[in-house]
Amino acid sequence: MELIDVPEGLAGVAVTATRIGDVLGDEGVYHYRGRSAVELARTTPFEDVARLVLDGGTEPAIGHVELPADLAPIVALGDLRSAVSAYAALSGLRPIMDLSPAERRADAVRLISAFPALVASVARRELVGPRPGEGYVAGYLRMLGGSDPSPAAVRALETYCCLTIEHGFNAGAFTARVVASTGADLGACVTAAYAALTGPRHGAVQTRVLDMFDAIGEPDRAAAWMRSALADRQRIVGFGHAVYRTTDPRVPLLREVCAELAPHRHRLALAVEEAAAEVLAGRRLGANVDLYAPIVLEGCGIPRSSFTATFAAARVVGWCAHVLEQATERKIIRPGAHYIGDPYRG
Ligand code: ACO
Repeated sequence: MELIDVPEGLAGVAVTATRIGDVLGDEGVYHYRGRSAVELARTTPFEDVARLVLDGGTEPAIGHVELPADLAPIVALGDLRSAVSAYAALSGLRPIMDLSPAERRADAVRLISAFPALVASVARRELVGPRPGEGYVAGYLRMLGGSDPSPAAVRALETYCCLTIEHGFNAGAFTARVVASTGADLGACVTAAYAALTGPRHGAVQTRVLDMFDAIGEPDRAAAWMRSALADRQRIVGFGHAVYRTTDPRVPLLREVCAELAPHRHRLALAVEEAAAEVLAGRRLGANVDLYAPIVLEGCGIPRSSFTATFAAARVVGWCAHVLEQATERKIIRPGAHYIGDPYRG
């Protein structure tokens, strides 16, 4: 078969069609099924945004799910990848290609609903569970912290979760779809997507942003710190994006949230943005979501070790939406590569 060469990183290559949402990099906007993600984050509870993203239907995307007691030794390991995988196995999730659309959706709702308890249990290394009727975000913060969260923290984290629930064909979503295209079960798809998210070029950059803030210390040191980092050929975390060529639309709203929640960090982040405008001038590298997201997470009392998992507690809805969509396609995703090793010797 003749191979077609594509750009590095598949940048700009469309591999399928989707109705879930779109990221318009040149315009600096993104949406969920046609509705502004930022507007939804300002106005709409997470549960409703989840329903819209999952399949745009009227049935809830989130229900009440308790974790099985058999999961206790797994959450004690403190590793979310293992816990998601084990939860899927203990729940008896079957390959999506053997399920009806309604059964696939039921598995998605089950996994999404279990996710906050999984993340909180892994963080605490003991099983915790939701209370009936509790909001997704409020329940997550309560299970994680062990006490009722403040309304300000719930509002701030709900905004963050609505903004990050889905974001186009990023590495995590693509990974979920590759696994879904094999017909594997939903737990396999979501475990793989989460594994992709744990890479620092994707979802696991947030603690590094706080490390940068800590290293800079005071606003007037930002420009000098950045010049020195660039001289060391480092990438400045919290800047640049694979798709946005203008402002990341998640930044202004998160900046607003930070101003209220964590004024000290907010002042420093503004100084870092100002310094970047000077130091990175001409490179079209604006602030991305992860410059402000860790300030929100820290301000909500979430430990640094749970930042990426918290991101996943929102993004799991997008991953499941991609899996449900991919499950309706028949073709396995199986690209090729030019072989450049030793010649075939027979
Ligand atoms: N600091 C300094 N230089 C940068 C940065 C940065 N943050 N980002 C990109 N560049 C440079 C690249 O080195 C590249 O230069 P080169 O051509 O000389 O190698 C040039 O700018 C163009 O890079 P892009 O093609 O725009 O970036 P790419 O799509 O490869 O990477 C990425 C995007 C991974 C987000 C990158 O900007 C980066 O590493 N940023 C820092 C980490 C970060 O903030 N990640 C979170 C992203 S948001 C998210 O995924 C949720």
